[in-house]
Amino acid sequence: MLTREENELLSRVGAGTPMGELMRRYWIPVNYTWEAEPDGQPIRVRILGEDLLAWRDTNGTPAFTQERCPHRGAGLYFGRNEEHGLRCAYHGWKFDVDGNCIEMPNEPTSSNFKNKLKITSYKGTDFGGITWAYMGPDQENPPGVPQFEWGLVPEEQRRHNRRFIYQCNWMQGLEGELDSTHLFFLHSRLHPEDDPKYGSYHPEHSATFHMQKTDYGLLYGAARPESDGSSYWRTTHFLFPFYGMFPGSDNGVPLSIYVPIDDEYTMHFGLQWHPTKAVKGSKWPSQDLADEPGVLVDGSGPLKPEQKGTFFPNWWSAVGPETDFHMNLEAKKTRNFTGIPAIRLQDAALEWSMGPIMDRTKEHLGTADAVIIRARRQILAAARALEEDGTPPPGSENPELYKVRSCTSFVAPGEDWQEALGDWHYARTTEYPVGPDSQGVPRGNR
Ligand code: FES
Ligand SMILES: [Fe+2]
Repeated sequence: MLTREENELLSRVGAGTPMGELMRRYWIPVNYTWEAEPDGQPIRVRILGEDLLAWRDTNGTPAFTQERCPHRGAGLYFGRNEEHGLRCAYHGWKFDVDGNCIEMPNEPTSSNFKNKLKITSYKGTDFGGITWAYMGPDQENPPGVPQFEWGLVPEEQRRHNRRFIYQCNWMQGLEGELDSTHLFFLHSRLHPEDDPKYGSYHPEHSATFHMQKTDYGLLYGAARPESDGSSYWRTTHFLFPFYGMFPGSDNGVPLSIYVPIDDEYTMHFGLQWHPTKAVKGSKWPSQDLADEPGVLVDGSGPLKPEQKGTFFPNWWSAVGPETDFHMNLEAKKTRNFTGIPAIRLQDAALEWSMGPIMDRTKEHLGTADAVIIRARRQILAAARALEEDGTPPPGSENPELYKVRSCTSFVAPGEDWQEALGDWHYARTTEYPVGPDSQGVPRGNR
């Protein structure tokens, strides 16, 4: 349970709020690199409550510029992106990627008014198929982009398989990612003997948690006993400020990202990569749902057609509360726990159902929620430390810390999990940690 003040501190991300200031110390993933083209139409985005235009100039340099023209407040969205700048459609004022006013054609040529004017335009950069924004205080010297391994591997070794807008606060998404015990309820199939395409399964619903604070956030493992004395481990990293790397496998390591659009909307990105092998499946979010009720897909289902006039117009889910998240009652009776047709939609349904900003003064957390409690504490402490004495939040100035991986594996009796899995976790090897497999159960069946 949090106090009202703590809940506000955790949830609010606008400029000037402690959490908003914390978020602004990091590079933020915003769009896929192919969305904005050089000299192309700008895209409306909203990040941390700020309405911005994502665009590229003639050189291909990305930028995130305030949506409103400083002259008389018209939308620069309708402007012309041409010859190294964005020109307002109203009276022709033109701005470069750094926010300098480079032309003011309706003023006398003798006027130097334009030289006194600078608008908000945040730095952008491309990495790993994503265009990132840096909205922090030092635009001249931003930190390095987090060196996630998925940004460093060849393109065929990563896939961006999910993306859609969550209609709830960012922390509800992140908490869902760190919440290990929901897996074998929310995402489970009803009958262990059924095909895993209907959901996951493990006979042991409760797990033992082991947590390790790290320089970038938190590493934790959930261990479940196997009948031969070994244990089944699922490891997860929380990386500041909004990344959850849930348990990976030798088929790839998954990462979920929860970028606060504002206090009540969140952009969810999901991706997967492998350090050495090409990964299978569509490279960009697929909109498919399975034909057979109860079969789960790894994307997040259909999106609405372009929602003109609003932020991130192409990333609104067509599957939401108004359709009960496509919950199929027959599948719910016979196949899986919810009858909702994608794992991510199952998560979204429950996280949105808490309301736009969950009231954490009314919750009742148990011992199984230890990871959520710890992550919240770390995030709140970091926001306060930044506010009080300017302490840079974890990882914000150390991009190399982000080269980590998670896994699912079996650990032999008596063996230390961090030692057994450490070379994989910290990318010192490309060999997947196999460990003993007590029942000969293929990992895909878990
Ligand atoms: S409102 Fe943009 S140039 Fe006048
Ligand atoms: Fe989940």
